[in-house]
Amino acid sequence: MLDVASIRKDFPIYNKGNSPLIYLDSASTTQKPQSVIDTITSYYDSYTANIHRALYTIGEKATDEYEKVREKVKLFLNVPDTHSIIFTRGTTESINLVSHAWGTKFLDEKNNVIVSEMEHHSNLVPWQMVTEQTGASLKFIPLADDGTLNLKELDSYFSPNTKLMSLVHQSNVFGTVNPIKSLIAKAKSVGAITMIDGAQAVPHSKVDITQLNCDFYAFSGHKMTGPTGVGVLIGRTDLLEEMDPFMGGGEMIDVVTMEKSTWNQVPWKFEAGTPNIAQVIGLGAAIDYLISVGLEKIHSHEKELLDYGLDVLAQNKDIILFGHPENRGAVIPFIVENVHPHDLAKFLDTDGICIRAGHHCAQPIMNRLGVTATARASFYLYNSKEDIDRLAESIEKTARIFA
Ligand code: ALA
Repeated sequence: MLDVASIRKDFPIYNKGNSPLIYLDSASTTQKPQSVIDTITSYYDSYTANIHRALYTIGEKATDEYEKVREKVKLFLNVPDTHSIIFTRGTTESINLVSHAWGTKFLDEKNNVIVSEMEHHSNLVPWQMVTEQTGASLKFIPLADDGTLNLKELDSYFSPNTKLMSLVHQSNVFGTVNPIKSLIAKAKSVGAITMIDGAQAVPHSKVDITQLNCDFYAFSGHKMTGPTGVGVLIGRTDLLEEMDPFMGGGEMIDVVTMEKSTWNQVPWKFEAGTPNIAQVIGLGAAIDYLISVGLEKIHSHEKELLDYGLDVLAQNKDIILFGHPENRGAVIPFIVENVHPHDLAKFLDTDGICIRAGHHCAQPIMNRLGVTATARASFYLYNSKEDIDRLAESIEKTARIFA
């Protein structure tokens, strides 16, 4: 396992000298290392300037630092081309970019779009909106009881009318890692475009975009030790070139007259206005940080925490665990008999323990499980087995109070 004491030295929130923080909500957002915070601060205190326009030294430095992050993303995820890498505000914006800029142009009433019953709202609602607008229909790969996708009747979902498949790589509710490589191949066999929501996958395991061979892939900075307000859309450049812009404004244009405009090249065609410069540069520092620790090491550390967490929580007969996918990230959804997840979260908070409680932006999954909410513990590189012991003790204490 990773040396958690040493990892925590990198994260100022763990070094405040207050009572210990037991942060078990990294699927929601992650803590930030000092190196990321310093990188953002250094942009603000040493070279604040707008990018792609300033003809002075600090402006050139800001542009260089911003554009260098495209190269970092390329190497980190083995993306074939930096022109495929668009900076957005996060996964939600990346998916909305595709649903608007690709969907409104290429979908019509003859087509269907495939998503699954496992999607976060951010990979469901944009497709509901664009299919309603274009008359295309929406189809669902069903969720099985164990928190995996039910792929038994896969052939029946895909047809030559399937124009796009958009699927989650790793579930934010169950941690399930979906077999997206084969699903991408399946979608491609009927000529469909493929979009993958990688928000929960990129922070926790090695993702190789070239190997996956998908058309679009999205992820967020804040779930991988980076800042909020930054995400990435990776898209096949020929598709990005065919698409109309998502937003109009400065930077995304080539020539503008009073009557009409022409567009900048990709990726800048999709980066209208002044982007989140500090956040993009901060994302670069987050990538450097994860590389310095090692994605494989982080992945094995989380696997060990997951196995330990499942074992420990299973010993408490008041706890109901949901889903048991074999290929799984470090996420445990559960409920405690007679304790509403919101009450549980508030009681655990009094012991300094942060978990998520609610529908996890996935109401259809809650409906499928027959609950309105669950509690969820999720782990990252700074968590230890002791965190899980404290969680188990605090759950037991809370259950006794409610019994
Ligand atoms: N998508 C985030 C979560 O699962 C907010 O908590």
